Amino acid sequence: MMNPSEIDTLVAISRIIPVITIERLQDAVPLARALVAGGVRLLEVTLRTEAGLAGAARIIAEVPEAVVGIGTVLTPDDLARAVGIGVRFALSPGATPALLEAAARCGIPFLPGIATASELMAAMSHGFQTFKFFPATAAGGIPALQALAGPFPAARFCPTGSIGAHNAAEWLARPNVVAVGGSWLTPAAEVRDGKWPAITARCAESVRDLSGSIPLPA
Ligand code: 3PG
Repeated sequence: MMNPSEIDTLVAISRIIPVITIERLQDAVPLARALVAGGVRLLEVTLRTEAGLAGAARIIAEVPEAVVGIGTVLTPDDLARAVGIGVRFALSPGATPALLEAAARCGIPFLPGIATASELMAAMSHGFQTFKFFPATAAGGIPALQALAGPFPAARFCPTGSIGAHNAAEWLARPNVVAVGGSWLTPAAEVRDGKWPAITARCAESVRDLSGSIPLPA
């Protein structure tokens, strides 16, 4: 069962979560350092690539300022591997009954992915109150999230999917949004070319633009 205060602790660290895809293991640590230097400490490392889990483990070992979570958790086995390396939280783009069951007793905050009312209800029946809303823009954007707030006033969301510097503030201003995630902070070409200062600068800009003016949801 997830305690909502654990999520509050995480989003107090950052309300912007980079969704990180690690193609080459050696990029993991310098990338994490670049993000942390820009003020972005809450990191979602996805299991989309083979290097993902090992990259997350390296970040945990070598970048203590980073608070590392694992994304693209599709199965109970993925979740067990994530918990095994000591991640602080985990997310999924969706959910299956088996994953929800495993996540409810995994011991770390877990955000199941939802895009519809029925998916939300299935996840709520396992005790979850905070969800990844994915694919946020394609699934109806802010109007969809606003509509879900009617029947589900206690549900809170971390939307991801086509969120970037251009619209993150709008999402973060919604009372049922605790944080936003996305790949805009870690463009693949910059990671490939090791353009760490550019990544740090973009993070600092996003933190400057998005923090302060946006109150945390009550
Ligand atoms: C995710 O896995 O959370 C999303 O694919 C991120 O979406 P984006 O690449 O559009 O930011």
